[in-house]
Amino acid sequence: MAFLLVSAFFLAAQTHGAPKEYSQQGEGVVLETLKLEIGLASNETENYSSQVKPPGTNRRIPQSIIIGVRKGGTRALLEMLDIHPEIVVAATEVHFFDWDENYVKGYDWYRNLMPFSYEHQITVEKTPGYFTSSLAPERIHGMNSSIKLLLILRDPTERVISDYTQVYYNRLESHKPVQVIEDIVIRNGALNTKYKAIQRSLYDVHMANWLKFFSLEQIHIVDGDTLIKDPLPELQKVERFLNLPPRIMSTNFYFNQTKGFYCIRSDGRERCLHESKGRPHPVVNSTVLEQLHAYFKDHNQNFYRMVNRSFNWH
Ligand code: A3P
Repeated sequence: MAFLLVSAFFLAAQTHGAPKEYSQQGEGVVLETLKLEIGLASNETENYSSQVKPPGTNRRIPQSIIIGVRKGGTRALLEMLDIHPEIVVAATEVHFFDWDENYVKGYDWYRNLMPFSYEHQITVEKTPGYFTSSLAPERIHGMNSSIKLLLILRDPTERVISDYTQVYYNRLESHKPVQVIEDIVIRNGALNTKYKAIQRSLYDVHMANWLKFFSLEQIHIVDGDTLIKDPLPELQKVERFLNLPPRIMSTNFYFNQTKGFYCIRSDGRERCLHESKGRPHPVVNSTVLEQLHAYFKDHNQNFYRMVNRSFNWH
């Protein structure tokens, strides 16, 4: 019955077809679904990887990586940075530093997944799983100790709900049973702190791993909540962080009423993010919300101290 009710809620709220971004655990990103996410036809990533090399270009190891956080707005950030003429972005999530089976393939394998770029351009890849990986910080540092890292974060409770929603839709699509969020977040009357979506929102815990290898100056934090409401100022801060001339303009964005989010206008084209980005969230029981807020409170304060900056999180 709960299954039927929750399905009915989401189906009523859903305006588009079900997305397919991640595997059911929400961990493994499937290439086919990534093509969907970035709006490519199914053979386009093959074309992308076997692209003809424009004269004067090369594939380069990224000089900047969006390390996460999952559901923070990583795709929006990457697509919006791609407006900049001096930024080129990797089409797929590479999972080089967090998946052993990819890491053993070496830097040449990694470089081959990058787009062609001119020498003055900056290559950026995004893999949201890096932020919560215990291996990624040391491995990235081993490749380039002066790399510039971008981290996009949003309110940890909102991130949990977004994470749950994504897995919910994926399970629904593969005809697996789903649970209401309250039944996952609360176990035996207490907060289920083992729930992965909750653990991923412990920003202080994950940040501590990165600060063992990188200085704060090397990690620019993008406010994901602000990027949703007003993208340009956040992108201008990234341009400054990357020492790039300001090229992203207000005219590069327009608000799409149907989607309820900003979309991108660039190179004479208008495009919104894939329908799996910006989905309706369930209405969560207020007591459960309060429990989540209370749990994250100290972690958030700790995180603010670590990064010498505060955010408008609950
Ligand atoms: P929701 O789908 O839960 O709203 P990621 O790309 O890291 O998976 O993050 C997805 C989130 O990006 C979305 O979460 C959405 O809130 C946010 N986002 C930020 N800017 C957006 C935009 N312009 N269009 C769609 N989603 C955007």
